[in-house]
Amino acid sequence: MAQPSATVSEPGRSDAAPVLEARDLVKRFGDRVALRNVSISARPGELVAVIGPNGAGKTTLLSILAGIQRPDGGEVGHVPARIGWVPQQPSFYSKLTVAENLRLFARLEGCADVAGALDRMLEQTGLHDRADSLASTLSGGNRQRLNIAIGLLAEPPVLLLDEPSAALDPRQRERLWDFIFGLSAGGTAVVYSTHNVQEADRYGHNVIVLADGERLFAGSPRELERAVGEAGARDFEAAFVEFLRQRGH
Ligand SMILES: Nc1ncnc2c1ncn2[C@@H]1O[C@H](COP(=O)(O)OP(=O)(O)OP(=O)(O)O)[C@@H](O)[C@H]1O
Ligand SMILES: [Mg+2]
Repeated sequence: MAQPSATVSEPGRSDAAPVLEARDLVKRFGDRVALRNVSISARPGELVAVIGPNGAGKTTLLSILAGIQRPDGGEVGHVPARIGWVPQQPSFYSKLTVAENLRLFARLEGCADVAGALDRMLEQTGLHDRADSLASTLSGGNRQRLNIAIGLLAEPPVLLLDEPSAALDPRQRERLWDFIFGLSAGGTAVVYSTHNVQEADRYGHNVIVLADGERLFAGSPRELERAVGEAGARDFEAAFVEFLRQRGH
């Protein structure tokens, strides 16, 4: 948790091959098309923000990348066998302690060194002093850290997070992003969805804009601002709103 907050300025190592790549993903739920030919890739250390209105397809995209749902079309290639998935809802047992949860999930993940994994995750997430607390008694910020710790147990090269900061107060949110920023600096590719577009600007090397299942934009936050011209000059949030408006959303 020691990484300083900072606006990311360097893109993920652009010479490295993607650790995650999916092309032309299609997902249908009955008549509803949740994803229409959506492509995405991420390189080691890259932070990719997926933004877009409610129902845009963000969760569907992330859960397909995580292997939770199957696409109806397209290809998921170069996805590492071990991918970290942090759903929006807590994925731990509230009647177990923090340490018991981590031990249980380490075993389920098939970790060879369960005690080592437990120590590493308590250290990395700063949850050492809460190791023996029941998960149900944790604050929202610590719950989210436990959720993320479970996603990171297998040391995945890619971490997928669905609205990781949604339930957090500004200080907890800042701490969470310091942590995620540290993961990215250490080489983990991080793909996350958020409704907080300032977060996407601050903690996204690249941004993917989805609306009604369609990928409307992929590029850096500055490129998105340039795409809307004068109307988006004020700040990233204004540029994002204007971008959606110009494309009829
Ligand atoms: N299991 C499902 N069954 C039927 N329709 C679904 C299912 N999951 C998602 N959808 C539909 O697919 C579309 C995309 O949903 P998704 O949850 O991916 O959007 P989202 O961008 O994550 O939205 P939000 O910002 O509200 O979280 C929506 O129209 C949603 O109603
Ligand atoms: Mg969602």
